[in-house]
Amino acid sequence: MQVAVITLFPEMFRAISESGITRRAIEQGLIKLIYINPREFTSDKHQTVDDRPYGGGPGMVMRVEPLQGALNAACERLSTCRENVRVIYLSPQGQVLTRTKVESIPQQGSNIVLIAGRYEGIDERFIDANVDEEVSIGDYVLSGGELPAMVLLDALIRKLPGALGDKQSAEQDSFEQGLLDCPHYTRPEEMNGLRVPDVLLSGDHKRIENWRLQQALGRTWERRPDLLSSKQLAADEQALLNAYIAGREAHTD
Ligand SMILES: C[S@@+](CC[C@H](N)C(=O)[O-])C[C@H]1O[C@@H](n2cnc3c(N)ncnc32)[C@H](O)[C@@H]1O
Repeated sequence: MQVAVITLFPEMFRAISESGITRRAIEQGLIKLIYINPREFTSDKHQTVDDRPYGGGPGMVMRVEPLQGALNAACERLSTCRENVRVIYLSPQGQVLTRTKVESIPQQGSNIVLIAGRYEGIDERFIDANVDEEVSIGDYVLSGGELPAMVLLDALIRKLPGALGDKQSAEQDSFEQGLLDCPHYTRPEEMNGLRVPDVLLSGDHKRIENWRLQQALGRTWERRPDLLSSKQLAADEQALLNAYIAGREAHTD
């Protein structure tokens, strides 16, 4: 997979290229990331990328020409043509990012251009002519598209085969099976009077697996019932959840 990010602040992306799982995936060549600054494609001495909005009002708007130049350069530097590139504009007006959306992106092609907006956003004519999809990271407005682009990149990279050391750790992650993850504990066995659940110390793998599944079901029921309503539970899962709910109700009585 190769991704070109069009951004006025390429240095912000050190947060993903210099640390953790994302850095390792880049070093392993699982993903190629390049950054293109629209300022490179301006013709005035101040390298102006924005201008006042038609119709008046506050704020500035990103101009078409520098963005168009950056997009053309992205295709060139990815050694591909526009038809083979999926252009995603990070925007609060896009579809909200979910696990399903993350998984759908690589299925639509392995050359991606991410556009991080700034100011009041980008000239609508650039969106109409070039953007295949707008993606939001939630119903709130940030100052720029760089953090949303990094959120999307991190979520994409975690899914690349070989990106995670332990394959199972991704399979157990929240949302993977339509459930939240179970709680986790590490040493010591007792901390400030709080003990690790006995079952996790039992060495009985079947019981541990059942306990984890029950916790995942219970947590999802308590915190995200909307996820459970779109999941068909198997009979044994329903029984585990019923026992969890009965335990909770007995506790509050
Ligand atoms: C200050 S915002 C512009 C918001 C725009 N005026 C609006 O209300 O829709 C500047 C840039 O930040 C990015 N951005 C802000 N919030 C975002 C979000 N929730 N998801 C994705 N991108 C976002 C977009 O790239 C946007 O062009």
